[in-house]
Amino acid sequence: MKAAKVGNPATLDSLRIVEVDDPGAPGAGEIRVRLHASSLNYHDYGIVSGNMPTADGRIPMADGAGVVEAVGANVTEFAEGDHVVSTFFPLWMDGAPTIDDFSTTPGDGIDGYAREYVVKPVSYFTHAPNGYSHAEAATLTTAGLTAWRALAVDGGVKAGDSVLVLGTGGVSIFALQLAKAMGATVIATSSSDEKLERVRALGADHCINYENTPEWGTAVRDLTDGRGVDHVVEVGGPGTLPQSIDAVRIGGHIALIGVLTGASGEVPTAKLMSRHVRLQGLIVGNRREQQDFVRALDATGIRPVIDRSFALDQIADAFRHEESGSHLGKIVLEW
Ligand SMILES: NC(=O)c1ccc[n+]([C@@H]2O[C@H](COP(=O)([O-])OP(=O)(O)OC[C@H]3O[C@@H](n4cnc5c(N)ncnc54)[C@H](OP(=O)(O)O)[C@@H]3O)[C@@H](O)[C@H]2O)c1
Repeated sequence: MKAAKVGNPATLDSLRIVEVDDPGAPGAGEIRVRLHASSLNYHDYGIVSGNMPTADGRIPMADGAGVVEAVGANVTEFAEGDHVVSTFFPLWMDGAPTIDDFSTTPGDGIDGYAREYVVKPVSYFTHAPNGYSHAEAATLTTAGLTAWRALAVDGGVKAGDSVLVLGTGGVSIFALQLAKAMGATVIATSSSDEKLERVRALGADHCINYENTPEWGTAVRDLTDGRGVDHVVEVGGPGTLPQSIDAVRIGGHIALIGVLTGASGEVPTAKLMSRHVRLQGLIVGNRREQQDFVRALDATGIRPVIDRSFALDQIADAFRHEESGSHLGKIVLEW
């Protein structure tokens, strides 16, 4: 079967498609999945570009969606023909976080889903939402579940809340869609006026160009009558956190998610403290949260925003497209 493999050294030019052994029949407690799609995340980009270390020859991609081809003995949760989507933390089933690294994450610590077939224990997958294409389902594992965790699990968003989303990448567009479905008011930022027009069409109530408005934290407060937003979906990191702290209300919640501006930096800790802000770091979520998220998608009818689709053979070009930053929402691979 065909699979993508990270080169040595890992670069987009050394990322290659190779023939690897078929994984065979599922054993007890396992399922065999015919994979059809994956989606690109900043984390996957770190792996394939060599910015994050991984094993030589690693099969990349944390996100995978496809069809169950066969089930092993004692498998009751899935049947042949079920449409499934992979889990980011296959060993974190439920409850409080128990893991603070990527050693068990497909496409990083273990082989991922840029391949045609896989055999795994049932915990590596959940059912996909009803009627979703494989490409749509493949957007849920990383970006989708992160947005869900930030807003529904950690944020407890309710109708009438206000939510700030930064930029128009995969996590932020999911957060915009979920926040609107929950009855929240959404303020979105982008470096592009053209993208802001598109997020307005997706339901954003207010838009700010963060390039033209470097003090966008103050602009957010002005838009909320000086109060600040209840929740910030913080995908920028050190370069955006000070503005996010300005933008959030006293006692509000910042979901600290991303590293788009770097992995460490100065934080105005006194302001964070005096404003009683709840700063919650998170990495994706557990399997039960993914099942809740899938149910929410079935109930709301939300469909992921797919920017562009590439074939598996075009995986390096797909990452070059992500690198360009011209996308809005998710970039997917389909085969
Ligand atoms: N903690 C977790 O569980 C978790 C899960 C998923 C992702 N992440 C992290 O979250 C971040 C976003 O991931 P993603 O997959 O959504 O990435 P992505 O799709 O590649 O998002 C890229 C977009 O981010 C926006 N952006 C870049 N720099 C920005 C800045 N300084 N201020 C505001 N927006 C900026 C840009 O939007 P515009 O073009 O509109 O300006 C850009 O198009 C990454 O750092 C990723 O590693 C973390």
